[in-house]
Amino acid sequence: MSHAQPRPLTVSARGPLRGTVRVPGDKSISHRSLMFASLAVGESRIEGLLEGEDVLATAAAMRAMGAQIERGDDGVWRVHGVGVGGLLQPAQALDMGNSGTSTRLLMGLVASHAISATFVGDASLSSRPMGRVIEPLGKMGADITASPGGKLPLMVRGLVPAVPIEYTLPVASAQVKSAVLLAGLNTPGITCVIEPVPTRDHSERMLRGFGAEITVEELPQGKIISISGEAELKPQQIVVPGDPSSAGFWMVAASIVPGSEIQIANVCLNPTRTGLITALRMMGADITEADVREVGGETVADLVVRHAPLKAIEVPAELAPSMIDEYPILFVAAAMAEGRTVARGAHELRVKELDRIAAMRAALEAAGVATEEFEDGLAIQGSGGGALPGGGSVATLLDHRIAMSMTIAGLAAAQPITIDDVAPVATSYPDFFETLSGLQL
Ligand code: S3P
Repeated sequence: MSHAQPRPLTVSARGPLRGTVRVPGDKSISHRSLMFASLAVGESRIEGLLEGEDVLATAAAMRAMGAQIERGDDGVWRVHGVGVGGLLQPAQALDMGNSGTSTRLLMGLVASHAISATFVGDASLSSRPMGRVIEPLGKMGADITASPGGKLPLMVRGLVPAVPIEYTLPVASAQVKSAVLLAGLNTPGITCVIEPVPTRDHSERMLRGFGAEITVEELPQGKIISISGEAELKPQQIVVPGDPSSAGFWMVAASIVPGSEIQIANVCLNPTRTGLITALRMMGADITEADVREVGGETVADLVVRHAPLKAIEVPAELAPSMIDEYPILFVAAAMAEGRTVARGAHELRVKELDRIAAMRAALEAAGVATEEFEDGLAIQGSGGGALPGGGSVATLLDHRIAMSMTIAGLAAAQPITIDDVAPVATSYPDFFETLSGLQL
């Protein structure tokens, strides 16, 4: 699933953005829909699945472990699951491509099944830390052999029955939380995760919807999430709401390009995902919510975003888990604000698809923006609303969000910005460039 052919792109400012976009299905919910449906007995239907490479890697892995997964001509995905405990030994290594979510969550599933699986991925994924899931899954009894530094390629040999644990998350990570909960599905007894800092809660919501016994208690030390195994999951009809992380690119694009006004339809507003909206509003962005409704157990709304002058802020560190994937595009908004924006407390950015602090610093500097790098974040000197100098050349190093963020920066730059490879955008937002063309007059 590596991108054999790099796709370079030069982006120039082309005037206001107008129109309506419908963002693709949420990536986190799409992965979980396929995984949980693959563990239910009977047919689940999934509408609005994100058909990006990361999610397709999850689909291929679940097929390799016995689930029947098909996409109908109507765009609806139909999944016949094998039942919790029923995953089959995959014949070959599971190719996770660029997807950390697929890797970490599936390691959890394999850990408590009587199978072994080898996980491989692209250069970016192979440099990401897996020790954070190896540690708790090892405590549950899985035998995991990783490459040096706890990296991919690695092999997980599951244990049946696995041992239920009580695990306090040392990092704010929904992937680690979910890996342990998913291992808990096929583990007799109660597996418990203590989460001192809240992270996205799609696993909890969806597992409850699939019929698992899962409880969440709010205590002073954080949330205690307990799952009872061995669980039985019932097939579901799922409608995946639009991805707030994908919507973030359009929120910032409309905010920074003078004269813009766009509607972004069908955006998931789960409160564990709305940090970018909060930060942009603190900066003075004009974002309104319309037709707020419930879709598949999540709050969804249409957003209207109009161009507005932005001012620098200190980005509250406590927003980090609810906007962790949105920092690259927030940094672009900061580059257009009046004053110096400081975002700290975001260490986790160092271990994303690549080190996003260093990568965004380099990308913004290439576009003529002055920055200061900290171990846990970035300070950015804004233009005060004037065009960014631009003119530079940006390396995306297999990171989809750097590619999309710097494309949006190019829309507000005096000189074109060249991006070495936008092919990685297909991992999370295959229609990104078509949607952009549709918004340009
Ligand atoms: C995700 C959790 C986050 C996020 C990733 C998707 C998930 O990662 O960055 O894109 O679906 O659980 P961490 O768990 O590492 O914070």
